[in-house]
Amino acid sequence: MNFDLTEEQLLLQENVRRFAREEVAPGAIERDETERWPGEIIRRLGELGLMGVMVPQQWGGAGMDTVAYTVAMEEIARADASVSVMMSVNNSLVCSMLNQVGSEAQKKKYLIPLANGEKLGAFSLSEPQAGSDASNLRCLARREKDVYLISGTKNWVSGGPKADVIMLLAMTDPKKGHKGISCFIVEKGLPGLSAGKPEDKLGIRAAVTTELYFDEVRVPAENLLGNEGDGFVIAMTALDGGRIGIAAQAVGIAQAALDRALEYAQEREQFGQKIIKFQAIQIKLADMATEVEAARLLTRRAAFLKDRGKSITAAAAMAKGFASDVALRTATQCVQIHGGSGYMRETGVERLMRDAKITQIYEGTSEIQRLVIARELQRKG
Ligand code: CAA
Repeated sequence: MNFDLTEEQLLLQENVRRFAREEVAPGAIERDETERWPGEIIRRLGELGLMGVMVPQQWGGAGMDTVAYTVAMEEIARADASVSVMMSVNNSLVCSMLNQVGSEAQKKKYLIPLANGEKLGAFSLSEPQAGSDASNLRCLARREKDVYLISGTKNWVSGGPKADVIMLLAMTDPKKGHKGISCFIVEKGLPGLSAGKPEDKLGIRAAVTTELYFDEVRVPAENLLGNEGDGFVIAMTALDGGRIGIAAQAVGIAQAALDRALEYAQEREQFGQKIIKFQAIQIKLADMATEVEAARLLTRRAAFLKDRGKSITAAAAMAKGFASDVALRTATQCVQIHGGSGYMRETGVERLMRDAKITQIYEGTSEIQRLVIARELQRKG
């Protein structure tokens, strides 16, 4: 067993950490308060090769592995989870789907600009009645000659109104259930496609989330990804990888909470001494550090398995389920160690608690992760 990062991964970590500290962290509190879209930072992520980390260089990416991706994701999330969610969606859902399933023509037209950061992608699966029950879709895609006419409402699309390209899951044959779901590459600006008002969220407030409305949107048949009926399995396979990205995001938030708690405990004095001298605080910090490390190891192990072509369904669900719980626990303890000042917005640690919560919900709730793990246990016997 080797827990060391390679020289390339260490260099990436150092560079992304510096970038995150200098260019991402400074505006994070203000962007959260004003819900300001981090467009400029996302553009810089593209320049640094961080929007297509795992995509081969011939398709516009950085050609690095999944472990490297988790290392970079952690550093960005440590500075601002709103930025990291868009990085995660673009890398591990949008680019991965195109890289794995896209035709040569689709890769040329869409993957290259998405991986090199010229364009931004979104992923659109959920609907009002289809959250955890993801195959219960009503959005319909009806073929007419060389186009599909798409109609329906999609929910909670991260970056929905900002994305240039949307990976859309819709029903081509409702009688077939999940086998009637297909995936489409939808370009922004098509007639009949519109976005709802930005959702007013608890956390990741700078990453705009909206509904998307499709009213007889004409999508060229050549924008079908894979074959008709392949969509659900394409989405589930992508979500296995996406869950590694969200696990790394959760580790980043948890690490930020630990950093802030440690720093504060070494500064703050009560009863005539620094509060870190109290065992009550030491025990909290020790538990936080242990859990962050365990979450990181589970996340990197899932990434390691993916890089070796192994099944990652259970490993990714374990990493995401555990790391997201750790993120919320660690952020809550960070606020607790800060006491009254932790409850004040200007300190910036309550944001970690609010941002952590979504990691237990999106890309499959904590309950769905346990269900996936239990199914895999039974399948393997
Ligand atoms: N990999 C490959 N195929 C998979 C798979 C996986 N991980 N999981 C399921 N499948 C396949 C099954 O093999 C089956 O295929 P066959 O019929 O050909 O055998 C098919 O998919 C249906 O599987 P199930 O019967 O298990 O499906 P289900 O309806 O019981 O649902 C579920 C399973 C795990 C609950 C799934 O619906 C799920 O993951 N729900 C959560 C949805 C989710 O994660 N949404 C995220 C929204 S996107 C988002 O959050 C992005 C963002 O904004 C950041």
